[in-house]
Amino acid sequence: MPPTRYTSRAVDASPLGSSLPLPFSSAVLPNRFMKVAMTERFATWDPDDMNLSGIPTQQLLDLYGHWGDGGWGIIVTGNIIVDPTHLEAPGNMILAPSPSSSLPSPNTSADTDPRFAAYQKLAAAGKRGGAVFLAQLNHPGRQTEFALQENPVSASDVQLTKGIGALYAFGKPHPASLDEIAHIKAAFVRAAVYLEKAGFDGIQLHAAHGYLLAQFLSPTTNLRTDSYGGSLANRARLITEIADGVRGATGPDFVLAIKINSVEFQDAGFAAEEAAQLVSLLEMHRFDIIELSGGTYEAPAWHHKKESTRRREAFFIEFAELVVPHVKRARTFLTGGIRTVGAMVDALESGLDGVGLGRPSAAEPKLPIEILRSGKKGCIKPLVGDTDVLGGEESWAVGASLAGAHMLQISLNQQPIDPSDGASIDGFLKGFDKWVAAFPVRSKREVLDHVRIESIDPRPYGVVEPPAA
Ligand SMILES: Cc1cc2nc3c(=O)[nH]c(=O)nc-3n(C[C@H](O)[C@H](O)[C@H](O)COP(=O)(O)O)c2cc1C
Repeated sequence: MPPTRYTSRAVDASPLGSSLPLPFSSAVLPNRFMKVAMTERFATWDPDDMNLSGIPTQQLLDLYGHWGDGGWGIIVTGNIIVDPTHLEAPGNMILAPSPSSSLPSPNTSADTDPRFAAYQKLAAAGKRGGAVFLAQLNHPGRQTEFALQENPVSASDVQLTKGIGALYAFGKPHPASLDEIAHIKAAFVRAAVYLEKAGFDGIQLHAAHGYLLAQFLSPTTNLRTDSYGGSLANRARLITEIADGVRGATGPDFVLAIKINSVEFQDAGFAAEEAAQLVSLLEMHRFDIIELSGGTYEAPAWHHKKESTRRREAFFIEFAELVVPHVKRARTFLTGGIRTVGAMVDALESGLDGVGLGRPSAAEPKLPIEILRSGKKGCIKPLVGDTDVLGGEESWAVGASLAGAHMLQISLNQQPIDPSDGASIDGFLKGFDKWVAAFPVRSKREVLDHVRIESIDPRPYGVVEPPAA
């Protein structure tokens, strides 16, 4: 049986297939589809030796090779960490081998540095179908779990205790000293230079979802009174200084992108009008691409909170519409909840330049080909983790686990299960229940495994229909 898809209004998909030159880099995107960042947790890991950790593995090469073949205009990696003392999770890719230096290795010889050789192979895999391949660079700041960092750095000493902060332990952060800020900036810039040498087309700064760059941006977490706090220009200074450093140290083809929150959904949070001011600032500092997202660990937002956005699919479309009129040169992408070609084309008609797809890209690594060449009008509608519901934080959690299970399958060269198929989802839910039961007793210093699909024989990647009996 072919998968069941979201139904779209009748619409011509061809605008999504048009190429897009970038304003500051000389790169051109082949189309308007962005495979957005999703943390993979497939890199090497040794909790006691960062020199052996964070190196891309064969699983990552296979995963990105399959996405590379999928017809995407841009592929963004899951967050790659610039400081090994502050991880988003064990199993992250890491660019800094030595905790003492917290800087990427200056050794960019594939002959002598297995880390560099692995990043070169990763870039080749992600680019092999013609996508522009970006590394998402992240420093989690106060969103580093206590088991990994008891004294995290942040803009100020505001501890994460609400939302996910009430479920997991996060240490009380200390405000970054000016020396630490200089060190963090250098880590981002060196990471960009390292990745450019390895063959990446560019980087995306992760300044959304409450991580360190967002902690500086938001007045709820940045209480500083020096030149990195107060006005928006000051709160964005860490970002703009990193941008200037990256632009100064990389070539004219190098793509500079950023992911920001259109709103943080919390009192006195980073408001939508300020997001509009921020985009002007980002253009001054020559960001090519601005991806609009939302939500933080304190206030997750990857589900519909209002009927008005549910009707329009994209969680953050209303905020995007406030922001986009202020953008003059940068290219804007909107991510979150977009599932039909109708909504994708609507996003372009609202002035956005493209759409970001997370969970659907794991269910269907070749989604752009399905839409542009095979005429599909919607993503596969999953039986669990559907976004077409109001509320649904639970649906987010299940949907995110399903995306993780799909990524695990693809990384093992298996065809991802069809999430609209009852027997396949039963197999996923069996694995999910085991995963939930094991969760409380897991060691937080070890890689958190993805859900493994139970009682379904894996099919080799590319085999869509079950073999004939
Ligand atoms: C498994 C998983 C991992 C994610 N990891 C990241 C990440 O590393 N960086 C990031 O910016 N967003 C991350 N996200 C958020 C996605 O990029 C995206 O913003 C979100 O899933 C909403 O888009 P969607 O509705 O198309 O899935 C992750 C999402 C999922 C499901």
